[in-house]
Amino acid sequence: MYYPEELIEEIRLRNDIVNIISEYIQLNKKGSSHFGLCPFHNEKTPSFSVSADKQIYHCFGCGAGGNVYTFIMEMENYAFLEAVKHLADKANITLPTPELSEEAKKKLQHRQQLLEINRETAKYFYHQLYSNRGSAVLQYLFNRKIEKDIYKRFGLGYSNITRHDLFQYLRSKKFDLEAISELGLIIPEKSGNGYFDRFWNRLMFPILDVHNKVIGFGGRVLGDAEPKYLNSPESNIYNKRKHLYGLNIARTSKKPYALVVEGYMDVIALHQAGFDNAIAPLGTAFTPEQAMLLRRYFTDVVLAFDSDQAGVKATLRTIPILERNGLNVKVLTVVDYKDPDEFIKNKGSAAFEELVNEAVQGVLYDITVLRNQHDINQPDEKIKFIEAVTRRLLEIEDNVARDVYTEDIAKRFGISLNILKEQMKKVIQNTGIVNHSNKAKKEVKAKKEDQEDSTDKIQSNILSLIIQYPSFFNAIKEHVVVDEFISPFYRKAAEYVYKQHEKGNNIQLASIIALYDEVGEQNRITNVLNPTIKFESQLLEEKAINELVKALKQANIDYYSRTTTDINQLNKLIQMKRQLQSINISLNSKED
Ligand code: UTP
Ligand code: MN
Repeated sequence: MYYPEELIEEIRLRNDIVNIISEYIQLNKKGSSHFGLCPFHNEKTPSFSVSADKQIYHCFGCGAGGNVYTFIMEMENYAFLEAVKHLADKANITLPTPELSEEAKKKLQHRQQLLEINRETAKYFYHQLYSNRGSAVLQYLFNRKIEKDIYKRFGLGYSNITRHDLFQYLRSKKFDLEAISELGLIIPEKSGNGYFDRFWNRLMFPILDVHNKVIGFGGRVLGDAEPKYLNSPESNIYNKRKHLYGLNIARTSKKPYALVVEGYMDVIALHQAGFDNAIAPLGTAFTPEQAMLLRRYFTDVVLAFDSDQAGVKATLRTIPILERNGLNVKVLTVVDYKDPDEFIKNKGSAAFEELVNEAVQGVLYDITVLRNQHDINQPDEKIKFIEAVTRRLLEIEDNVARDVYTEDIAKRFGISLNILKEQMKKVIQNTGIVNHSNKAKKEVKAKKEDQEDSTDKIQSNILSLIIQYPSFFNAIKEHVVVDEFISPFYRKAAEYVYKQHEKGNNIQLASIIALYDEVGEQNRITNVLNPTIKFESQLLEEKAINELVKALKQANIDYYSRTTTDINQLNKLIQMKRQLQSINISLNSKED
């Protein structure tokens, strides 16, 4: 761990989980828990619960769960240390210099160095733009009617025409060659001698994450050469599927919806026209990860992709991704011009505002496109159209919304409402499918459970028994030592539980969660240790404990017989196996 355990605990205790989560979503108190709509998956009825007593949260729908650190890591896209810092600041606790393991220190320093190199690079490009060499680029920006305060706000820059400048500059700053190379800022020469800059003679767009850290770059050619845009490759700090261009600014917009466009230039033109809610994916199709990210800041989205066929296709692909992540989607159609940038430069922002007002609901857009693909004067085409409409309407999760749209669509497209309803019934009867996202949710849950094999389940059950019934600890520790928790994942929790018990301390699940620094591990430990096992009689309790302890010992014997070659140890295993049957834990005698 990076900081002393006690400090991590102190920070956790000073940040009440109900207060922290309430800053992001609305919670309602019911009994001893608070409930709300899960921010990590799309739902209409709350299955997300927060326990003030246990200081944990858990979603019964998607399996997300953890303590206050987990929540901040998931919500803010933070690494564990960043979440600690964030919550320490909130509690006015000053952090000491962290105690890092060598490996953790290296990992953290590496990430910091990558961010530092990118920041220096962005500054370097920025200064180039205002140097003599940048004058042609300033002219280019002027020709494209981009104003100075806007290109400054977005930190645009210039990578000049000579091909080793950035490389030499970064080396003069003593940055590590491999790190610069990992970021893709330089590329090895084919000859094997030295490197050249990836970006040269391009207008540079730094890509910032929501915390304003420079994670990558896009660079546009100044003329018509190919490729038009060159982008940073993926790296330790840049995953293009997980970020959105412009969101660092748009997240604070007062507009009640996000405006999703295709390109860097569209984002910039829209911000200039007062649409500070514009964002764009980063050169790929819109991803579910981006939808989740967007969902943290907005509930409504207006799609404004290019007006060409590719734009229509991208729109059709993006609507379900946004809807499945709980966003309400409308589609705006750019008319007469190729993209929002050109539209707004020619028609102005009031005309664009009108397009926003005329934007249609995603389902209506989809069905209009379907309508244009079928000649409904031909009976067979009309049948196909009705079938396609049916499938689309069934994707709407909410029953009321589905009914309302079914009626509206029937009227609008001249389909008999009865026929449409009949057809929908038929599909449900044949396939049992009402919508896709429930299926997706179940898959996520099944995957989480798959992670646990039978040995894992034995270990987690023993741990959760000790946590729930502290009086069982003495009985269990007589028979099971920490090292018999064979999975490193559970041994970590066991070490802590044993240590705390020896000290006579109470154990809270929320403290155990803080032993793990990856969100996935935190979700997992929460899920396996949270469910409460209730016994109806002491007989059952004893039976359960005896079975679990025996099963764990058996798992140890199996494991070591497979891996050891040492004859002495093999003998010991045989002995252990013999003793196994005579284990008899009695809870009664241990309690007094
Ligand atoms: P566009 O070609 O529509 O770009 O590509 P644009 O933003 O309208 O640029 P201008 O107006 O011609 O200057 C949309 C987005 O697709 C990605 C970029 O993210 C771009 O903003 N793209 C496009 C690339 O990554 N590489 C390319 O070669 C082209
Ligand atoms: Mn454009």
